[in-house]
Parts: sequence; structure tokens; C-alpha cells
Amino acid sequence: MTRTGDAAPPRGVPLPPRPRVDDREMLVRATRLRDELVLRRSVRQFSERPVPREVIDACLQAAVSAPSGANRQPWHFVVVTDPETRRRIRWAAEAEERSFYRDRAPDDWLDALAPLGTDERKPFLEEAPCLIVIFAQLYDVDAQGRKRKHYYVHESVGIATGLLITALHQTGLVSLTHTPSPMRFLNAILDRPQHERPFLILVVGHPAPGATVPAITRKPFDRVVSRR
Ligand SMILES: Cc1cc2nc3c(=O)[nH]c(=O)nc-3n(C[C@H](O)[C@H](O)[C@H](O)COP(=O)(O)O)c2cc1C
Repeated sequence: MTRTGDAAPPRGVPLPPRPRVDDREMLVRATRLRDELVLRRSVRQFSERPVPREVIDACLQAAVSAPSGANRQPWHFVVVTDPETRRRIRWAAEAEERSFYRDRAPDDWLDALAPLGTDERKPFLEEAPCLIVIFAQLYDVDAQGRKRKHYYVHESVGIATGLLITALHQTGLVSLTHTPSPMRFLNAILDRPQHERPFLILVVGHPAPGATVPAITRKPFDRVVSRR
């Protein structure tokens, strides 16, 4: 590729076949998916029921189909089911969260969290059968140790995470997006290199019997969508 654009463009491959859908069927599909997705909630009480590895793998395969800046796919997902590793993650997360809630969190942040009822205790990190720890890679390192830069890393990893949350929800599983602050302890526990930044922990499983969720509301549609 040159700046003047005089190189021949690379040849493409045909778009994978897709069904032709008329407008009515499109609306049916859109509303069906919407009706499923509006039922998604972040769950903080999990049962011990395990989740099949194949289900998690299929959801991750959906996630890594996400678009990414310059197709760099700047992500790594660590699936943690080992109880001792989950215990270590809980212990380290609670240590960080204790100092966050007691000392570091500014008052406005604590006020914003109050309706959720969250605090420094994170039992779900041990109770849920599966944690998916998502790392964002600022660059890649090839076999010769050369760095290859990644682009739009946060946008790309955010989109992949959104697809993963959607896929998990579609299977009937529940999840919690968890971001203990700071999260660098995850590199040490999970043996990931320093150029990978912990992005978030997705806590995955089945809800505990009688699980409850915070009574919160969404902004009105016309406040978050406008047209010109
Ligand atoms: C980037 C991000 C970070 C979050 N971090 C936490 C967290 O550390 N702990 C927690 O309990 N919930 C966390 N949440 C969940 C939010 O509190 C939750 O999505 C929000 O209150 C809306 O509720 P809902 O997901 O049930 O619709 C996080 C969500 C996002 C998107």
C-alpha cells in the first residue's frame, strides 16, 4: 500500500451467502432479537451449576467474529473454571475493591453505585462456575520478538465483548461485567504478558434460585436516539 494509492487493490472473496429477507421478515427478526436482549440483566448471584465447555467455546467463537481496527483482533480471552484460580481472583479483586470503596472512590462515583447495592464483597467470583477474563492487546509480538501495533484496541475489544455477552444471553446463561479497579493482578494470576491489559472479567453461569437484580431504569429511547 502506498500513500498515493497507485498500488493495485487486493483481490477480495465473495461475501458468504446470506438469505434474502424482505422488509416484513426483517422487522420480525429485529423485534424478536430486541425482545430477547431487553431481558438481559447483570446478575450477581450465581448457582454452582456448571456450564458446558462447548457452549462457552461457541459463544467465544461468535465473539471473535467481531470487527476490529485493521483486522488486528487485539484480544485474548482466558476461560477460568479452576476453583483455586477463581478463589485467587476473588481474593485479589476484593483487596483492590476494599481500598476502592473505603479510600479511593470519589463521592460522586459511590453515589452512582449506590442504587446497585454493590460493595467490596465479590463472592460471585468464586460461586459462578466460569469467569472469562478479557485482555486487550496494545500490540502483538511475533516469533522474532518484533512488535506489531494494534489500532482502535478499546473499541474493538468492546465490540467483541458485546457480542460475547449477547451470545451468552442467547444460550440462557447470565453474566456480570466486572471491573475491579485496578486489574493488573490478573496478569500475574493468569500468566499473561504485560502488553496485554485486563479489559474486564465476565462472570458467567446460571442465576441462583431467587436471584434479584437492582431496580434500575433505562433512559427513554428518544433521549438516546436522534435522527437528522
Ligand atoms: C464497563 C462496565 C463495567 C462494569 N463493572 C461492574 C463491576 O465492577 N461490578 C458490578 O457489580 N457491575 C459492573 N457493571 C455492571 C453495571 O453495573 C450494569 O451493567 C448496569 O448497572 C446496568 O444493569 P444491567 O446490566 O442489569 O442492565 C459494569 C458494566 C460495564 C458495562
